[in-house]
Amino acid sequence: DVAEPEDHSMDGMAMGHDHHEPDLNHSTGENELKLPPILKSDKETEDEIHYTVDAQKGQTEIFDGYQTDTLGYNSSFLGPVLKVKKGQTVHINTKNSLDEDTTFHWHGLVIAGAADGGPHSVIKPGESKEITFKVDQGAATLWFHPHPLGNTAEQVFNGLAGLFYIEDDEADQLDLPNEYGKNDFPLIIQDKTFDEEKQLNFTEVKDEDGMMGDTLLVNGTVNPSLTIGKEKVRLRLLNGSNMRNYVFKLSNDQAFTQIASDGGLLNEPIELKELQLTPSERAEIVVDFSKLQDTDQLALLTGEDTVVLPFNVKEERTGGDNVNIPKQMNSIAVTDEEKSMKVTKEIVLDGMAEDVTINGKKLDIDRIDFTQKKGEVEVWEIYNKPDEMGGMIHPFHIHGTQFKVISINDELPPENLRGYKDTVSLDSGDRVKLAVRFDEPGIFMYHCHILEHEDNGMMGQVKVE
Ligand code: C2O
Ligand code: CU
Ligand code: CU
Repeated sequence: DVAEPEDHSMDGMAMGHDHHEPDLNHSTGENELKLPPILKSDKETEDEIHYTVDAQKGQTEIFDGYQTDTLGYNSSFLGPVLKVKKGQTVHINTKNSLDEDTTFHWHGLVIAGAADGGPHSVIKPGESKEITFKVDQGAATLWFHPHPLGNTAEQVFNGLAGLFYIEDDEADQLDLPNEYGKNDFPLIIQDKTFDEEKQLNFTEVKDEDGMMGDTLLVNGTVNPSLTIGKEKVRLRLLNGSNMRNYVFKLSNDQAFTQIASDGGLLNEPIELKELQLTPSERAEIVVDFSKLQDTDQLALLTGEDTVVLPFNVKEERTGGDNVNIPKQMNSIAVTDEEKSMKVTKEIVLDGMAEDVTINGKKLDIDRIDFTQKKGEVEVWEIYNKPDEMGGMIHPFHIHGTQFKVISINDELPPENLRGYKDTVSLDSGDRVKLAVRFDEPGIFMYHCHILEHEDNGMMGQVKVE
């Protein structure tokens, strides 16, 4: 008989496995949240935009009085926000100033394999490469990170991660908070472990099932707090952690409104009190601070009571008029045809730690696991096979596409998973059907987004032509 899968959803992971699970420290709120700068383009016209993104190493004062060795894009730690508009042709000069190989992966972008920055697209230290692609998808909060074969977890852990915003005219028309740093804030949420000298010693904390840290950083800020006005505020959440899952809620149990998932705006705003994000998933939520008193203490929590981000609410609004979230924001639907399609790709996620596999195999970079025709929808069925110890959550990600979730265990997905997704989390024993279409050709990776699982070969390749 099969062991009951445990509830992994709360407070990181509660697994039946021998896994190091440090508790997260509470934010004491003493540092104002840092915001990534919006990257200045090298050149922009109506139809084209040019950027330079430089992976570099440096030192960062994360803790007062300590210099931590870190990696970053165009800075010593993390990266800037790249903003592009739907319809634009984007040129990015990607530059490797590290002393190791890296790649530049644009997570969530529907672009050709040649520009996607998977493990094939190595850039050697000191070299650079220009990539070009056209943005043909709607407004969304995407991100970018390295993807070198077997070395993704460490590079991300050490700081390589940045945000990629797509904007479009229709979304701009909607009455949503959209003033960056005023009523619209990115929150890159990552857990890290620092040694006594406040260094990130990845090899010392390495865990084959994924590094879980005890120190939470939001946008690279330790003990952050965010000052906001009494108004509706948009928070763009990214779980940028190697393996930790978060279940976000507000400390006063107030509901919030999810407006977007990985691939952009949901059809309609969804009221929630709790929201789970597994590694690489994004969600945009709107929190209404307008009814709070100055004396109210409000914080974003994960799990039962871990403070992620306390808010300082001040009287004046900074974001102009208070918004009215529209009832309809997008129109995404699984079609009847898609619902009746047969499963043509079956994916079984299995194992733990070094033994993780997909369909019983580890990645072979010289093997193409599947092929699919460009522009055609296929139904992929993903199954997370439980093991005798209960198994664990695997966040399953596909490059080069934004897919739709048809069903989870034969039921309709919850409303906040009915928008475009590029990562779907599967509890142990879950079976998920996806409607997957690639609009561009190339070789695309699909994998578990626990970065150590990816590095351990829990990854495959689909060739699209
Ligand atoms: Cu976030 Cu293979 O990617
Ligand atoms: Cu990706
Ligand atoms: Cu996994």
